[in-house]
Amino acid sequence: MGHVTPSGVERTFDTDELIVSKTDTKGVITYANEVFVRLSAYPESEVIGKPHNLIRHPDMPRCVFKLLWDTLKDRQEIFAYIVNLAGDGAHYWVLAHVTPSFDANGQVVGYHSNRRLPDRDAVAATTALYADLCAAERRHSRPADAIEASTALLDRRLAERGQTFDQFVWSMTSEGVSA
Ligand SMILES: Cc1cc2nc3c(=O)[nH]c(=O)nc-3n(C[C@H](O)[C@H](O)[C@H](O)COP(=O)(O)O)c2cc1C
Repeated sequence: MGHVTPSGVERTFDTDELIVSKTDTKGVITYANEVFVRLSAYPESEVIGKPHNLIRHPDMPRCVFKLLWDTLKDRQEIFAYIVNLAGDGAHYWVLAHVTPSFDANGQVVGYHSNRRLPDRDAVAATTALYADLCAAERRHSRPADAIEASTALLDRRLAERGQTFDQFVWSMTSEGVSA
């Protein structure tokens, strides 16, 4: 949203905690659990009804959110490392699982997300990758050009590793398992 200045203070949470939120089909928050409220440092009343970019951090590349929404529109789930910006300027890294919610007829009625604490190695590797993607985006003034450039760089980096985005995410967990 751009109205909160990052303080550089990192916030963390317990390995057995899950940050949960649900949105409507447009990404407007309809539910947030107690852990979400605590980490984001917004009262629940200021979270419900807000677009989910409420906690968008400027260090997040646009191309990752494009991938997220393209995947959801494709009716698929996605796992991604995301750094979020709390209302008090602190940031917190999560390993997010975001998925469509379907009704009995298979229609997408909204989306929901569970997030857990990522491994520190994953945060370090993702911080470096996302910094490069953001740098590629800053070379362009038009958002569409920025996304195209960072998406191309992301694809190149994954190709070098011989990994899909999903494999990149899971290769850096201590479980090392595929979803
Ligand atoms: C269920 C769900 C959960 C989301 N969780 C986050 C999140 O934790 N942090 C975030 O920055 N964006 C999250 N998003 C993506 C936002 O909707 C948005 O695309 C993103 O913040 C980029 O905002 P912008 O397009 O205004 O730059 C989520 C979207 C959905 C559907």
